[in-house]
Amino acid sequence: MAKDVIVALDFPGEKEVFDFLDLFREEKPYVKIGMELFYALGPNVVREIKARGHKIFLDLKLHDIPNTVRSAMASLSRLDVDMTNLHAAGGSRMMAEALTGLTRPDGTRPLLIAVTQLTSTSQETLEKDLLIEKPMEDVVAHYAAVARESGLDGIVCSPLEVPGVKARLGKEFLTVTPGVRFADGDAGDQVRVTTPAKARELGSDYIVMGRPITRAADPVAAYRRAMAEFVG
Ligand code: C5P
Repeated sequence: MAKDVIVALDFPGEKEVFDFLDLFREEKPYVKIGMELFYALGPNVVREIKARGHKIFLDLKLHDIPNTVRSAMASLSRLDVDMTNLHAAGGSRMMAEALTGLTRPDGTRPLLIAVTQLTSTSQETLEKDLLIEKPMEDVVAHYAAVARESGLDGIVCSPLEVPGVKARLGKEFLTVTPGVRFADGDAGDQVRVTTPAKARELGSDYIVMGRPITRAADPVAAYRRAMAEFVG
């Protein structure tokens, strides 16, 4: 599986997104479209960006009853994205149905990645709100194992967790890792950050970078720097 840098298109509207993508004349970055953009502009933004030749990670984090998730995934499969995701908390049946829905008539499908626990969920939230009285690490490891057993391709996690995930679930199980910053950059609201070079060393398959590229004075140079550090 080829390593790649996925640029998070966290923009409020069409103009900002296309002004950004227009900056790239030589390369076509792999991009992540999240809820903000998808709910604002709908599936057409996915079609337009795909038509420009970008690979797309559609980050909508589905979580519903198995039947609904299967049908929703079938709709997403027709958008021709390359990767999408769901919450492992929906359980193994939901994940299996998601895979069924995502599989196109010709047998191909986008990669399907699980969110184990959101990084915004604290140990306190886990215990008080969700009534899960286990260490966060164990919960994340268990959800990742259930995702693997359900046939999913990988999980979203911190680069720092990659060696542990690979050791338990195998090298082929993909890790998609946000929380990446340049050594001389601002961490912003990300707490545990690693550089692209460190993420590569730790064995991450895809790094997701938003602001260090989208808000750089020269986004193309920042993207090239990330690619050089992570992919080589
Ligand atoms: O701007 P920044 O590089 O922090 O963007 C990271 C992207 O990855 C954002 O779109 C954010 O929502 C997403 N993400 C994250 N942490 C997670 C899951 C997703 O930062 N655990």
